[in-house]
Amino acid sequence: MNTPKNHILVIFGASGDLTYRKLIPAVFDLHNQNLLPDHFAILGLGRTALSNADFRKKMKDGIEQFALNKPSNEAELNAFLDKLFYYSFNTKAADEYAAFKNHLWELNQQCQTEGNFIYYLATPPSMYEIIPAHLAEQGLGDESNGFKRLIVEKPFGYDLGTAQKLNGHLLKHFKEEQIYRIDHYLGKETVQNLLVTRFSNGIFEPLWNRNYIHHVEITSSENIGVGNRGGYYEGSGAMRDMVQNHLLLLAGLVAMEPPALIDSTSIRNEIAKVFHSLRPIKEEDVPKYVIRGQYTASNIRGKQMKGYREETGVDPKSRTETFVAMKLFIDNWRWADVPFYIRTGKMLPTRVTEIVIHFKPTPHHLFADDETISKQSNQLVIRIQPDEGLLLKFGMKVPGAGFKAQNVNMDFHYSNLNETYLPSAYERLLLDCMLGDSTLYHRGDAVEAAWKFVDPILKAWEKDCCIKVHGYPAGTWGPDVSDDLIDEPDITWRYPCKNLSDDGNYCEL
Ligand code: BG6
Repeated sequence: MNTPKNHILVIFGASGDLTYRKLIPAVFDLHNQNLLPDHFAILGLGRTALSNADFRKKMKDGIEQFALNKPSNEAELNAFLDKLFYYSFNTKAADEYAAFKNHLWELNQQCQTEGNFIYYLATPPSMYEIIPAHLAEQGLGDESNGFKRLIVEKPFGYDLGTAQKLNGHLLKHFKEEQIYRIDHYLGKETVQNLLVTRFSNGIFEPLWNRNYIHHVEITSSENIGVGNRGGYYEGSGAMRDMVQNHLLLLAGLVAMEPPALIDSTSIRNEIAKVFHSLRPIKEEDVPKYVIRGQYTASNIRGKQMKGYREETGVDPKSRTETFVAMKLFIDNWRWADVPFYIRTGKMLPTRVTEIVIHFKPTPHHLFADDETISKQSNQLVIRIQPDEGLLLKFGMKVPGAGFKAQNVNMDFHYSNLNETYLPSAYERLLLDCMLGDSTLYHRGDAVEAAWKFVDPILKAWEKDCCIKVHGYPAGTWGPDVSDDLIDEPDITWRYPCKNLSDDGNYCEL
């Protein structure tokens, strides 16, 4: 494994939750595996006045709670904490950047990090245009004396127009190769495994097309509500929060053509091609293809659950969607007319992300009494989380007289692999950026193509108040009308359980 070059990771928004819960614990996990360079430092930035000692104390707590590898002893943890520094300044104010620049170069001198800096924007999106511009004004984007990379968190834009504007703005100050647009789904081991499952197995790829696949289903459900993020979520909703990025990405990985190479250009070209092939949904067709819902108060196993409109920071008359189900098509040779059904929601019965490939049934049903397509077809379930693994459903003879077939499960669970460490998404993505590998980061044109697809839906919702926001009781699988999207009588969504291969009527949620 390559080790990154010596560098400083500069985190804007270092007093926030993302830094505490995800970023620092992920870097600690890298440290634990000796994946950091010999000369390395983290410089946390923010308006909150903190000393280095305060910052280290807070991050220590974050590491103890959220790192995958808990520190085994104090000395090891302190060796890592010694690499953490904090500098407080107003990151909005252009005139404070000169002093910041001096501070950064002094730290670079002290830590021997060779002028290599990664800037991580863990800030509200309103800062995404301001910070890069001020950095560039100070020459802090100039790579003649060390690499300078910029990691931008989602949301990347609010709609197509703002995403284009943001891309244009960033590209004024940094080159595309310097910009790393993060989508933590791409950092998940099981999401990357989609590529390996598809392109390293001779048995799947020949079947992976409209001739053999009946439809594709993608679900990302959560069993929690918006919690304390109501303020953010009101301006976002499930379409912007999950569909535009994570769900379309999963669809892109399922649908993409084999890349020529496993490298950033080839893989990102293929994903972008899928996004460009998404069949546009016209504003007037939105109700036919897209269902939106919002959770309402309910009682789950004796526990009273709030409705979305009662959450902190949420308008009591809010029409923000916490659930989206939609039917989409990818207009190319491989996928013409194969429906992709995707859905996501908060406060559903369980937390599951999975992709189900539904193969076409055999042309002649020799063995079935019951000829429903769903009972006759093979399904490949690719489980992203939890109980990560793969499940293949296929027909077997029911023992005894006659020839009756029944679908059975063949399953693989990552947890069965001994000694397999699944790195966190942030750990993988941060390491890739440190190594200068942008394969698992979004490219600007793909982000815009995804917005272009989603934009008419958002516009239709905004303009036409007759498009219903369906209420669904918290703890259920969303509005029942989402079943109507699948307009074939004997096909429904799969209702997954926490455990990949449990699919009886009763299961653990
Ligand atoms: C984030 C969304 O991008 O993804 C959250 O902003 C959501 O609303 C989260 O909860 C889901 O991520 P994961 O990894 O738990 O599936």
